[in-house]
Amino acid sequence: MKRKILVLDLDETLIHSKNDGCNPRKEPTGTPDFVFRIFCKGRVKRVFVHYRPHVEDFLMVVSQWFELVIYTAGSEDYAAPVIDRLDDGRGIFSQRFYRQHCVPDGFDRTKDLTAVHRDLSSIFIIDNSPSAYKNFKQNAIPIESWYDDPNDTALLDLVPLLDSLRSADDVRKVLAKHRFFERRRESVDSW
Ligand SMILES: *[C@@H]1O[C@H](CO)[C@@H](O)[C@H](O)[C@H]1NC(C)=O
Repeated sequence: MKRKILVLDLDETLIHSKNDGCNPRKEPTGTPDFVFRIFCKGRVKRVFVHYRPHVEDFLMVVSQWFELVIYTAGSEDYAAPVIDRLDDGRGIFSQRFYRQHCVPDGFDRTKDLTAVHRDLSSIFIIDNSPSAYKNFKQNAIPIESWYDDPNDTALLDLVPLLDSLRSADDVRKVLAKHRFFERRRESVDSW
């Protein structure tokens, strides 16, 4: 069985953060899981990081099933300390890709999965932003953006699908079937 690579986005997929210097669209409520400082544009900013519910359990499970890679459009200065904290000294992320590894796409940036691994039958990405995987839709698992809902279960809800990907000979086939049933379910729900 080929070991598959699970690529994970960071912001609004695994965590949400805010900092002293900006006003994000949605501010999380409650106590941050951790706070750190970065030096940015001549100022020290505090970054308040909130974990998506169940992210720690999620990482514990999927790190046993897959090779994990973080691929974020965030800057390395900001994202590296967040990844270190999620990793917690375990070394569960085999590679890290930051803003400088994204591909310019108009005013936006998109992600290049072939930079992570050339065999597209054994790599897939979980990302809340469709523009991030626009060139790799067959390898993508969409997830709703998370900002502050304490009852969010999106990560746990993906576990059965991820379990079925472990033994897939081509992840794109399993994901195509999944998309087909999701669309059917949505059309039945909207009746
Ligand atoms: C979360 O769930 C609890 C218990 O069901 C409920 O009381 C609360 O209003 C929910 N919170 C949000 C933000 O939806």
